[in-house]
Amino acid sequence: MATLNKVPESADTVSSLRCEGLESPRLIDSERPRFSWKIVSVRRGASQGAYQLRVFSSGAGGEILHDSGKVESDKSQWVQVDGFCAKPRRAYQWQLRIWNERGEVSEWSELASFETSLMGEPWPAQWISDGRKVELGEAPPARYFKKSFQLPQKAMRATLYVSALGVVQPWLNGDRVSDDCFSPGWPDYRKRVFYTSYDISDTLKAGENVIGLVLGDGWYSGTLFLDHQYDPTPKVSAWVEILAEDGSIVNLVTDESWEGCQGPIRANGIYFGETFDARLHDPAWCEPGRRCREGFPAVVESSPGIPMVPRHSPPVRPIETLQPMEVRKTKAGAYLYDFGQNMVGWVRLIVKAKAGQEISLRFGEMLESDGELHTANLRTAKASASYIAKGAPEAEAWEPSFTFFGFRYVELSGVEDTQEHSVLGIVVHTDLKRTGTFECSNRLLNKLYSNTLWGQKGNFLELPTDCPQRDERLGWTGDAQVFCHTALYNMDAGAFYRQWLAAVRDSFEDGPDGGFASVAPFTGFSHGAAGWADAGAIVPWTVWLHTGDRALLEENFESVCDWVDLMRESAPDGIRVSKEGWGDWLAPWHPQGEAPTPYRLIATAYYAYSTQIAIWMAKELGRADKVREYEELLPEIKAAFQREYIAEDGKVVSDEQTAYLLALGFDLVQDEKREAMIEHLVSALRAKEDHLSTGFIGTPLIAPVLSKCGRSDLAYRVVLQETYPGWLYSVKNGATTIWERWDSWTPEKGFHPMGMNSFNHYAYGSVVGWFYDTIAGIKPNPEFPGWKRFRIEPEMGGGLKYAAATLQTPYGEIVSAWSREVDRVDVEISIPANTSASVSLPAESVAAISSGGAKITDSQCIENVRLESGRVHFSLLSGQIRFRIEADGTLAESRI
Ligand code: BGC
Repeated sequence: MATLNKVPESADTVSSLRCEGLESPRLIDSERPRFSWKIVSVRRGASQGAYQLRVFSSGAGGEILHDSGKVESDKSQWVQVDGFCAKPRRAYQWQLRIWNERGEVSEWSELASFETSLMGEPWPAQWISDGRKVELGEAPPARYFKKSFQLPQKAMRATLYVSALGVVQPWLNGDRVSDDCFSPGWPDYRKRVFYTSYDISDTLKAGENVIGLVLGDGWYSGTLFLDHQYDPTPKVSAWVEILAEDGSIVNLVTDESWEGCQGPIRANGIYFGETFDARLHDPAWCEPGRRCREGFPAVVESSPGIPMVPRHSPPVRPIETLQPMEVRKTKAGAYLYDFGQNMVGWVRLIVKAKAGQEISLRFGEMLESDGELHTANLRTAKASASYIAKGAPEAEAWEPSFTFFGFRYVELSGVEDTQEHSVLGIVVHTDLKRTGTFECSNRLLNKLYSNTLWGQKGNFLELPTDCPQRDERLGWTGDAQVFCHTALYNMDAGAFYRQWLAAVRDSFEDGPDGGFASVAPFTGFSHGAAGWADAGAIVPWTVWLHTGDRALLEENFESVCDWVDLMRESAPDGIRVSKEGWGDWLAPWHPQGEAPTPYRLIATAYYAYSTQIAIWMAKELGRADKVREYEELLPEIKAAFQREYIAEDGKVVSDEQTAYLLALGFDLVQDEKREAMIEHLVSALRAKEDHLSTGFIGTPLIAPVLSKCGRSDLAYRVVLQETYPGWLYSVKNGATTIWERWDSWTPEKGFHPMGMNSFNHYAYGSVVGWFYDTIAGIKPNPEFPGWKRFRIEPEMGGGLKYAAATLQTPYGEIVSAWSREVDRVDVEISIPANTSASVSLPAESVAAISSGGAKITDSQCIENVRLESGRVHFSLLSGQIRFRIEADGTLAESRI
């Protein structure tokens, strides 16, 4: 069982200060930023009664710019303070203290900081390039630019702002400025370009300084599936703002005075890998006094003429290092390294080789039956790299800069037997804090959980992608929406999704075949596909549930309305008639694209669901006009769905799982037919011997819908199937991530014959949300989003002996853990300070549950106890608590 974390015996303290949901953010864009904090307390029922927040100007002896005074409020997340207005390009500090529910005041918190962005002020730097155009399918050399400048005195404060149409690595005085990768990220370049900023105050010195920029093609000039390229010339723009000790300001910007140089990266491309010629590498290329190799003047380009917006999501970084598990020699004499885990990133190559010796690396997720690397599933992605050695006396080490690979195996060729060589696996993804853990007594479920987490790491590289290895790696919206609930348990992904949603909105197109796109940022695929385009409504709503960040609703509401209105136009009778999308993509037993659920049924069901979300959003935002409008529309859509697809006896036309799951999951069925429909769903499952027959649309709904219908027993049965098609089938077959297809590889047939076959596709990992919200039972409460109030409703079944989940919320840690013996169930729950939960536990009577040997009705932190349908419900105040449920031996299993 999970053990409850010990909290120190002391007064309440305030910690984990965040501004706009981020720790010490650098580019706050809002004049009225929102503040959040956590209260740490050992007291049961601890909550906040009031707070006082102060904002200071930055630096030693910063003056108080704002003091909120004592504000009576229990709000500790996303708090906007009246009367404080942030100014552009400033550094601030802030702190607060709180009064608890007993009126006792805490100490002042530590100081936290935030800085503001340009807030719309003009970008002063020019855009530079090397003037060369990148051909489609080409992997050209990276571009190196630098500029030397004199500083008469040391800087008090210096900020480097960088933007790129491409991806950039900034350098200063001989070193990289940070370990951020693929900066400043991937927006929809048709509509916006990101910039980011770095504090370089300590690296600048009096005298000569040199700033360098290495520019890769990234997603801008690199070729993306299908032959998509935003523009053939990558460009970069940077600005250093220096506040000197005497108070004067020095600005340094990219312009025609910058020099271009030749550098060691001879080829780069996201899909195409990298070639690095170490003979051309001068580690001191951007140190003072160094001359450029074959220098040339930078070409000044016209400005892209689109808004420049600060990047908010945390950057991509190298996060973990894996040692290879095994290395062996192939028939062809290459070395094959096995990391034992399908991962995303690259390797650090360490090699002792001769000058000019070329070492080649090829990456793959799987092996052929003869033990050779399987690369057919990568399609046109070359997924290879070359290192040309310098011939240094000691071993040389190298990692690529502007590419990444999805792989478990790396094949190294070009080294001689006598030469020393090794590789380390560098796991690279967006640097998001892990928030959730899950563990249970079933080893295979734990592995499925781990596989999903690895799928998330690998596909959370800058934005939520379908897969990380072949020639796609795109922000497929359908994949993202089905996985979002799970992802938000695993990682603190609010800012990550908020940033991506800008690209989803940017992808929106008007007209009958319009809507949100199938991929965002848009790279040329369709718009308006049911279940994919609906991500534009589902993702902001889900992120709001998990984070309580209203900005998600405010920023996305108008486009959600546009989406509903556009669907209404193509659904005159309530049935959504439009160009076909992807349907129940990859449902088993059917050829790709021929799943049995009618497309219009899916499209109409999602039309209803997006409309429902628009109503919920409108209520939250106080938009009574839209609530009225869509509350009239929704019953019309439901009536059309019922007329067209639901028969008298509760059958849905195609009589298969996905159709039932949509009808029940999205509440499209008449009350009087609901029970009958559940029975039809059960029969549809039975027809497959309690195996799923669902693709991308139906799969995420199976377990949650069965649980919603009171059939968690069946949900467990389906989830625990070890044979095809089911989640544990790939686990039994050695998967270390989630596969794209239920049968991506089988012992009988080997690799799936269709080319499209990724071994790292997180979509089916969406079942892990059900591990958290049903097995462990930690569920968000839509009325109090962001975990201010929530539910703990574990459903104990599937023969599990124990299960435990923890969740780090902005308020603190939630724990829900249970373990079963023949005659009892022990439950541990932890509720963070300033929150509360409604709990539901299976029990035959209220008296069957005790806590610390006492009746729960005697506990001061428990209220509103009632027994209903075999479960005891009550509200629970903050604190850590254990329960014992006395059972007759079958109770827990039978009550799910
Ligand atoms: C992607 C998917 C995506 C699908 C659309 C595929 O190529 O990898 O995951 O959702 O196309 O059907």
